[in-house]
Amino acid sequence: MSSLLIKNGRVITATDDYFADVYVEGETIHTIGQNLTVQADEVIDAAGKLVIPGGIDSHTHMDMPFGGTTSADDFESGTIAAAFGGTTTIIDFAIQTKGESTIKGLDTWHEKANGKASIDYAFHMIVTDMPDERLPEMQKLADEGVTSYKLFMAYPGVLYVDDGTLYRTFRQAGQNGTRICMHAENGIVIDEIIKEAKADGKLDPIYHALTRPTRMEAEGVHRAIAIAEVADVPLYIVHLSSSDALDEVKRGRARGVDVMAETCPQYLFMDQSYYQRPNFEGAKYVMTPALREKWNQDVLWKGLEFDHLANVATDHCPFCFKDQKELGIGDFTKIPNGAPGVENRVSVMYQGAVVEGRLSLNRWVELMSTAAAKTFGMFPKKGTIAVGSDADIVIFDPNRKETISVDNPFTHHMRVDYSAYEGVEIQGWSEITISRGKVICRNGKLETSHKGEFVKRARQGELLRS
Ligand code: URP
Ligand code: ZN
Ligand code: ZN
Repeated sequence: MSSLLIKNGRVITATDDYFADVYVEGETIHTIGQNLTVQADEVIDAAGKLVIPGGIDSHTHMDMPFGGTTSADDFESGTIAAAFGGTTTIIDFAIQTKGESTIKGLDTWHEKANGKASIDYAFHMIVTDMPDERLPEMQKLADEGVTSYKLFMAYPGVLYVDDGTLYRTFRQAGQNGTRICMHAENGIVIDEIIKEAKADGKLDPIYHALTRPTRMEAEGVHRAIAIAEVADVPLYIVHLSSSDALDEVKRGRARGVDVMAETCPQYLFMDQSYYQRPNFEGAKYVMTPALREKWNQDVLWKGLEFDHLANVATDHCPFCFKDQKELGIGDFTKIPNGAPGVENRVSVMYQGAVVEGRLSLNRWVELMSTAAAKTFGMFPKKGTIAVGSDADIVIFDPNRKETISVDNPFTHHMRVDYSAYEGVEIQGWSEITISRGKVICRNGKLETSHKGEFVKRARQGELLRS
């Protein structure tokens, strides 16, 4: 069994902050203490560095067929990029083909990931229909460790489901002790607004944002919360982007509904003006929900500070500018929706949260790792530095400065021909990433061909042990 001793680091978890040595035996953390003298196969000196739990990105789309093409990262390239960025677990979205079994969808995603992923992975299941006769599949999915389901109010004719399907699925998910993830936007009304825009010849990328008003996101959030309340299921709003939508989450929580919400770094760092970048470059930021007016950013940061927003995930769904985003030249509705970010999350959030003084170090760690582990049935196996937990550890250099760029080998390993954060200067960088006791990246170099494993997640309220 291999062993690893991390010495002299500052250990930060969601709740603690202390100097200690961390001794790893095999895949798990064996001992945490001061001045440990144990012999180990490898000793890492982490003086001056933060020792944090590996990041968990609970919202990625690797190898996803969407918008007439497929997302540019598969499980191999996407998880290597994630590891370089300090993430050691992703939760990706498996998709049920409409009319087919969700179990078949799960098998397809296992095939995509198995043997390719370099870090551990789990799946949410995207439900595209759920007739009564299929409801027992949801119990089977939960038994297989797929304990959360995403449904869409957006994308009519593609992933959209009606309110009856929402209610049926919510009800079953609640009875099974699982959680619903919701893409909350009124896609039916948005499609009407898009028709009007196109009839007026409004076809540039900016109209992606102008045809998706924040009120339609807020309406979706309100409706999802109301249905979840009646169906008695824990709800998680994915990729919340606006102040209007956050108000609905606050209202739901104030009246005692079990609803939490995630935002994404892009909504904290980018805004609607990006769609007006010349030479069709605005297409790089076409994602759903759309980027919003800049003032929303402060409201979202406050939401993170006061816990109205519970998690930060990327919605990593990269499409190359050349050939993929370009599918939408002359018609913004044909631009594949999504942007890259899995590699940048931990660093840009350190910059925005800690360096710029908005959030504490503990809250940053919570948002990068612990919250996702707890919300999605992976704690304490994942999401913390503790004896018995998986040795998913990042040695984070809080002082290292980089300028994020598609051309910077220290910030870009995603298989996509642009960076959404091009030119952004950050302080704080993941120097060493360890997955279940194996160093996989060190100082910008990939070290092993370590393979990630599927994480069979627990139901709501249950713990998952290593
Ligand atoms: O634009 C996005 N968000 N693409 C991925 C699919 C989704 O809605 O999460
Ligand atoms: Zn979505
Ligand atoms: Zn998504």
